[in-house]
Amino acid sequence: MTRGLAEHVRSFGRRLGIAGRPSAGRLARDAQRYWSGSSTDACRRDLSHWAGEGRWADQDRWRRIGRTHLAMFHALCDLAGAAPPRGRMLEWGPGGGANAVCFAEVFETFIGVDISQANLDECGRQLEAMGYGGFEPVHIEAAAPESVLDRVGEPIDLFLCTAVYQHMPGKEYGRRVTRCAAALLAPGGLALIQTRYPGDDPATGSKCDDYERNVLQFTAYRVEEFWALARECGLEPLAVRLVEQDRYAYYFLRKPPEDGDE
Ligand SMILES: C[S@@+](CC[C@H](N)C(=O)[O-])C[C@H]1O[C@@H](n2cnc3c(N)ncnc32)[C@H](O)[C@@H]1O
Repeated sequence: MTRGLAEHVRSFGRRLGIAGRPSAGRLARDAQRYWSGSSTDACRRDLSHWAGEGRWADQDRWRRIGRTHLAMFHALCDLAGAAPPRGRMLEWGPGGGANAVCFAEVFETFIGVDISQANLDECGRQLEAMGYGGFEPVHIEAAAPESVLDRVGEPIDLFLCTAVYQHMPGKEYGRRVTRCAAALLAPGGLALIQTRYPGDDPATGSKCDDYERNVLQFTAYRVEEFWALARECGLEPLAVRLVEQDRYAYYFLRKPPEDGDE
């Protein structure tokens, strides 16, 4: 059976109430296929924040992504009472490199972890164009985010993830990634994570099937829910900033320092 026909049969079965929900592994593979499509699909390049594509034909608008998050990084350092680190950072889902080009001005090493090779390649092109030599791309199988733990040797000073959690294939998946963040960070290391939160309309809540149709709002956490999740995963929430028009919540987090380090 072709993939299109198989999906058609599954969706028909779901409508009749005789087909189960897709497994976590299947949703992860659907996500990987979707984001890998930026190699051929202009709409996915726009969604992946590639400079010059769609909305990002406006260069200033594209630059504002990284500048905004860099300003939040400095606010996070102030909150944590820490001097801005300059060593190693990791961005989960760097897309076309809008954050990378700003953070590369600060960090010696920029590790990009993504399920899309095409997006990692574009991020690499942007960094190369500015003469940056510290890029380490890490392409992972979407169904195995923990594989990053073996691929990234040294601890990191900053974990950054913006405009990705809402596209993750489920809340449990986001928990797995947050655990990876805590495991990768050095004690006292910082994390800036943005998630989407649901509104009153049920359509803005998390989804459980049909990844491609629901990609824009697949996963949403209530603010207190993600705050608690981060804590359970080993990250200390310092503050949260809401951007109501997008229902974005930015969490300012740190991995607790080891005893005697503060
Ligand atoms: C909307 S773009 C965001 C790019 C960048 N973070 C920014 O804020 O400009 C989403 C990126 O996340 C990647 N992505 C989606 N799901 C992912 C996952 N489960 N793990 C890692 N990367 C993922 C996509 O391939 C894409 O590069």
